[in-house]
Amino acid sequence: MKHHAVSLLLLTMGLSSAWAQNDKDTLDLLKSSGCMTCHAKDEKVVGPSFQSIAAKYAGQSDAGDTLAQSVRNGSRGKWGRIPMPAHASLSAEDLKTMAHWVMTQKP
Ligand code: HEC
Repeated sequence: MKHHAVSLLLLTMGLSSAWAQNDKDTLDLLKSSGCMTCHAKDEKVVGPSFQSIAAKYAGQSDAGDTLAQSVRNGSRGKWGRIPMPAHASLSAEDLKTMAHWVMTQKP
């Protein structure tokens, strides 16, 4: 019993640090891709906060793919008067990683 509790604890710690690493890697990707010059997690900069994007599309099962398209092709008129430029040089995989990460942002 005692051993089980310890290994469960270790397993949980391992999983959450893997997740934290993943979160950090994605943030680094967003930074190196220039996203953070216009976006922040929890406040509007030039573009909407990632938390408000996640809230707007919550419940749409295809939101990750739709947002990846928006980032790739650029977006205008959905949030305000400032458009987002296209990011055509990003790989499909990176776009998907970033868009799905955006959808996990919660206040
Ligand atoms: C030059 C500033 C700028 C940069 C750089 C930028 N964005 Fe945006 N982003 C915006 C603006 C402005 C909007 C709102 C566009 C609109 O109203 O349709 C937006 C909207 C979005 C949306 C919501 C799109 C939708 O369909 O509602 C996502 C997701 C997003 N950005 C992610 C990113 C990611 C990821 C990057 C980096 C690859 C990035 N942005 C880089 C300014 C920027």
